[in-house]
Amino acid sequence: MSVDAAVNVIQTRRPGFVPRAALVLGSGLGRPAEAVADATIIPYADLPGFPRPSVAGHGGRLLLGSFAGAPVAVLHGRAHAYEGHAGRGGGAGVMNLPIRVLKRLGCEMLVLTNAAGSLKPEMGPGSLMLLTDHINFSGANPLLGEGDEQGSRFVDLTDAYDPALRRTLLATAAASKVKLHQGVYVWFLGPSFETPAEIKAARTLGGDAVGMSTVPEVIVARQAGIKVAAISLITNLAAGMSSLRISHEHTQAEAAKAADEIERLLAAFVAAVFPGA
Ligand code: HPA
Repeated sequence: MSVDAAVNVIQTRRPGFVPRAALVLGSGLGRPAEAVADATIIPYADLPGFPRPSVAGHGGRLLLGSFAGAPVAVLHGRAHAYEGHAGRGGGAGVMNLPIRVLKRLGCEMLVLTNAAGSLKPEMGPGSLMLLTDHINFSGANPLLGEGDEQGSRFVDLTDAYDPALRRTLLATAAASKVKLHQGVYVWFLGPSFETPAEIKAARTLGGDAVGMSTVPEVIVARQAGIKVAAISLITNLAAGMSSLRISHEHTQAEAAKAADEIERLLAAFVAAVFPGA
């Protein structure tokens, strides 16, 4: 499946449009898609090589339009490694092609959102966490089995979460009166939630939040030379840290509650990165 085919469909539907930023909206976090002005909406089904997300709360469409005054591409819905899509990376490469398409369209920056469990009691449900780094606890990698044709497979992940973008996000959060935690995201493959023993291990190893997404897209975006910023919405304390049961329904309900705040933060951030775009 080639990047060209999807790029051709997109450029036919929206000739001459060059998105500068891309947003990936995670579980239950689709609200910013409604704020895209003058949107061209393309279902993933029309885009060769794009996955059909199989998880409730994941839209499965690409939007092109204006967000906070900047031309953007929005991936409303992502597929996860655990969905078992065939292909390279043992399923972890399921978002490789969409990310490479974003690069070809002109995106310089990728902003990822996800729902995550907290490893810190003081960072409870509803908190937002800016990712400073990650730990890949999945045993998977989106570049497994790939050659070097897309760029070196030995991708440097130092400063994968762009320090300048992080500074801008922290500043815009402060200016927007949004409390933004910072921390290390630990990627578990899923789809089962973690055991309390795994959570204890992740905390001991320096993690601050756990989730089942984002890291594959970060790796591929860095290979492609796209700058990355990522934000977790904390939907629960991780397994064994509270008496509440963890469920996907709970994740979606908590994510929906934070929709406004995330949209406000993302809009202020995009406007700060692309002033007068
Ligand atoms: N673990 C993994 N993924 C998640 C969680 C969690 O506790 N909460 C939301 N996504």
